[in-house]
Amino acid sequence: MKHLLKLEDWSSEEILATLDLADKLKYEQKNGIEHKVLKGKTLGMIFEKSSTRTRVSFEVGMTQLGGYPLFLSSNDLQIGRGEPVQDTARVLSRFIDGIMIRTFEQSEVEALAEYGSIPIINGLTDYCHPCQVLADLQTIREFKGKLEGLKMCFIGDGNNMMNSLIVGALRTGMSISVACPEGYNPPEHIIEFGKSFGDKFELCRKPLDAAKNADVVLTDVWASMGQEEEKKIREKAFEGYQVNDELMAVTNDECMVLHCLPAHRGEEITAEVFEAHANEIFEEAENRLHAQKAVLVKCFTE
Ligand code: CP
Ligand code: NVA
Repeated sequence: MKHLLKLEDWSSEEILATLDLADKLKYEQKNGIEHKVLKGKTLGMIFEKSSTRTRVSFEVGMTQLGGYPLFLSSNDLQIGRGEPVQDTARVLSRFIDGIMIRTFEQSEVEALAEYGSIPIINGLTDYCHPCQVLADLQTIREFKGKLEGLKMCFIGDGNNMMNSLIVGALRTGMSISVACPEGYNPPEHIIEFGKSFGDKFELCRKPLDAAKNADVVLTDVWASMGQEEEKKIREKAFEGYQVNDELMAVTNDECMVLHCLPAHRGEEITAEVFEAHANEIFEEAENRLHAQKAVLVKCFTE
């Protein structure tokens, strides 16, 4: 049994093996080859925040693997009325075979794993978004043919996406430069993780410094779920931290652009850059399905 609580917990080998399995499952799906390896298994999917991609891709993915996805909204669960996550974990472990959870606190995901006895998969917390980053890496490798030696750049908030991208890029042999305004850095231990890879990691203030010679540029919303009330303050803080033509001009030829979505055109990315890279961005969205199916197989069968 294996969990995916955060990407730091998975070694380079495990991440790369998951990407290989994701490619294989994608091929099989596209070629009508059955792969019902989770027949008879049930995945509980707890959502304490909104979702389009994560919900639908996990639900469809579990079905394609022959299993049963059970959507559990926190509005309906007792967890939404204050039942401790420790108790929820012990109860659900007796009914179902695994849990995917999207919530606020990372500690809630860790507690589910500590108190439950079934695999727990993080479908986004305020701290990280490992499933998204596995799909991002799969997409980059699909378009570029490799990860090793490429330069990733992330422009914007030191949020869940930036945290997981730093870990994912460095663990797969990429270098990564991030640019965020003062006061919006990723957590100190993530910066320390980055620094342990020497000059493969760079924290910049100026977006153009981070984007120089990049092979793939990523960005994310300026105000994440739960930060809606700070939106005005954040819009001011992130002025200039936009993926636009000026930024793309300093990147390498054939530089990709990815976005986890939903995107806010005119804020973190211009409509022009978004549309010019729409084929990459929507392949990235599709790869959520394939990457998560690989995560499900790994977590349920190891
Ligand atoms: N990128 C992502 O996780 O999308 P959803 O919020 O729609 O699940
Ligand atoms: N940082 C964003 C990612 C959404 C997929 C959020 O947490 O809202």
